[in-house]
Amino acid sequence: MKKLEQVYEGKAKKVFKTEDAELFIVSYKDDATAFNGLKKGTIVGKGAINNQVTNHLMKLLEKSGIPTHFVEEISETETIVKKVTIVPLEVIVRNIAAGSLAKRLGLEEGTKMKKTVLEYSYKNDELGDPMINEYHIFAMEFATKEELELIAGYSMKINSILSTYLADLGIELIDFKLEFGKLSDGTIVLADEISPDTCRFWDSKTGEKLDKDRFRRDLGNVEDAYHEIMRRLMGK
Ligand code: TMP
Repeated sequence: MKKLEQVYEGKAKKVFKTEDAELFIVSYKDDATAFNGLKKGTIVGKGAINNQVTNHLMKLLEKSGIPTHFVEEISETETIVKKVTIVPLEVIVRNIAAGSLAKRLGLEEGTKMKKTVLEYSYKNDELGDPMINEYHIFAMEFATKEELELIAGYSMKINSILSTYLADLGIELIDFKLEFGKLSDGTIVLADEISPDTCRFWDSKTGEKLDKDRFRRDLGNVEDAYHEIMRRLMGK
């Protein structure tokens, strides 16, 4: 399948039309940003790793009954996906307090919480993806009640599938961000990516960070962390 005109370029991916009006090609970049684009850099090999790790996890989720946009991987950095209209929400699932939640509530990073926390942000770079709640979502018509119930249910199920899967590989799933899209018939599917860019992965034994926090916080060994995740998940 050929790439036609580019329809979108984000911070980490480009999206292209194809000859099939219902299919797009996503191309993952090595570009890395943090703090809403304020910090910029390159993580060599990130595009290939995030593409392959995302597809590996989306296939696992499909098998467990989560509908996704995944169709077919066509190269190390490119994948055919179903065309969706992105629901303008970032769904954040948290098992352990870290990052902005730890800061907001004055918790030490790594604090276990009694229950999984679900948060929503309005996906809008100009506004810095502000945190919102259900009332904002319905008032702004970002999603209907039925759609949000589905999105929240899928997000919790994804959390339990991925947490169990990763625990077996010695990885603790601290938190992660999901995006959902709507197919032309209105079906809600998981879209975007699931990768070290969008998840916090800590080594279960040592607590070592194996994700984009190494880049955000200048911890060093950024590429090594991405490679380690790919190795544990896919053996390469
Ligand atoms: P946070 O603690 O900074 O709010 O991040 C929560 C999770 O969401 C973390 O796993 C990283 C991910 N994330 C993104 O994927 N994109 C973003 O723009 C931000 C801020 C976080």
